[in-house]
Amino acid sequence: MERRGKIYEGKAKILYETDNPDLVIQYFKDEATAFDAQKRGIIEQKGIYNNRISSVLFEYLGKQRIRTHFVQQLSDREMLVKRLEIIKIEVVVRNMSAGSLSKRLGLEEGMPLAEPVLEFFYKNDALNDPLINDDHVRLLNLATPQEVTALRKRAVLVNHHLREFLDKRDLILVDFKLEFGRHHGQILLGDEITPDGCRLWDKQTLEKMDKDRFRRDLGKVEEAYQEVCHRICGDGA
Ligand code: TMP
Ligand code: ASP
Repeated sequence: MERRGKIYEGKAKILYETDNPDLVIQYFKDEATAFDAQKRGIIEQKGIYNNRISSVLFEYLGKQRIRTHFVQQLSDREMLVKRLEIIKIEVVVRNMSAGSLSKRLGLEEGMPLAEPVLEFFYKNDALNDPLINDDHVRLLNLATPQEVTALRKRAVLVNHHLREFLDKRDLILVDFKLEFGRHHGQILLGDEITPDGCRLWDKQTLEKMDKDRFRRDLGKVEEAYQEVCHRICGDGA
């Protein structure tokens, strides 16, 4: 698969065209940002770990009959994916209180939630990705009501399967963010599933093993990504 022109460069990934108009290459960078890009840094080898972790998780979800954009891992930092018209909604699923939920509702971090809590954020950097509801989705014409129903169903199902998969690897899936897109009339799960966009805690020690180590200056950031990659990919990473 030939890599052609750059389509888009984001904070953690670059998208390239290929010789097939339906397929694009996602290139994973080591750059990390937090707090709406006010904090910036490099997490050594993150791109390699995230590409591997995402590839394994997309492949697993595919086996559970969840449609994703994943086609195949091409190299250390490159993944071949189906081209999507991205839906500008960040779908967050939470199993325990943490992060902005704890702040917004005054909940102590680490409280198990009886049912998964779903939130929508408007994917808009200039506005710092504000929390939105279904009425806002309609107002902004981000997705049809049928698509919103599909996103919710899909996100809950992804949560179910990921939680189970990660639990077997001694990781608690505290919360995570998903993005979806349209591809020839189908809605596919897109973007990435990595410690950048998931909160993962060690089941025994409750140690944070995700980007919160970078956000909160907890140290051992690379080590956490490496360990998550090792547990998920089991390949001596
Ligand atoms: P939050 O608690 O900051 O709202 O984050 C919830 C989850 O979503 C957390 O696992 C990190 C992820 N997330 C992203 O991937 N990108 C973002 O821009 C934000 C705000 C959160
Ligand atoms: N990556 C996002 C940013 O740069 C937010 C985050 O993950 O904390 O703003």
